[in-house]
Amino acid sequence: TYVVTEACIKCKYTDCVEVCPVDCFYEGENMLVIHPDECIDCGVCEPECPADAIKPDTEPGLEKWLEVNTEYAKSWPNITQKKDSPEDAKEWEGKEGKFEKYFS
Ligand code: SF4
Ligand code: F3S
Repeated sequence: TYVVTEACIKCKYTDCVEVCPVDCFYEGENMLVIHPDECIDCGVCEPECPADAIKPDTEPGLEKWLEVNTEYAKSWPNITQKKDSPEDAKEWEGKEGKFEKYFS
């Protein structure tokens, strides 16, 4: 599966949802997650993210993000259409420590 990682938090560009052939993105307040059981591993979303937040879970060190995606895809609502990103999205690109403060 592919997973959404910390770089999405507070950037939330939502370009990713438009290209997913199985509509498996789910939306929290500050980030999106991918439902691992629904993702068909096509990889189409990865280059679409301006924040480079989407990674295959085969990359090392992404265990935490797989857990986060798995857990929150169960309860967050599905999102299939792009929407406006936060006005300050650009300022949050690449910032560290977003998970601890702003995950939701
Ligand atoms: Fe959707 Fe493909 Fe991305 Fe999985 S890898 S979330 S199926 S676009
Ligand atoms: Fe997040 Fe990138 Fe999608 S910032 S909402 S994973 S396009």
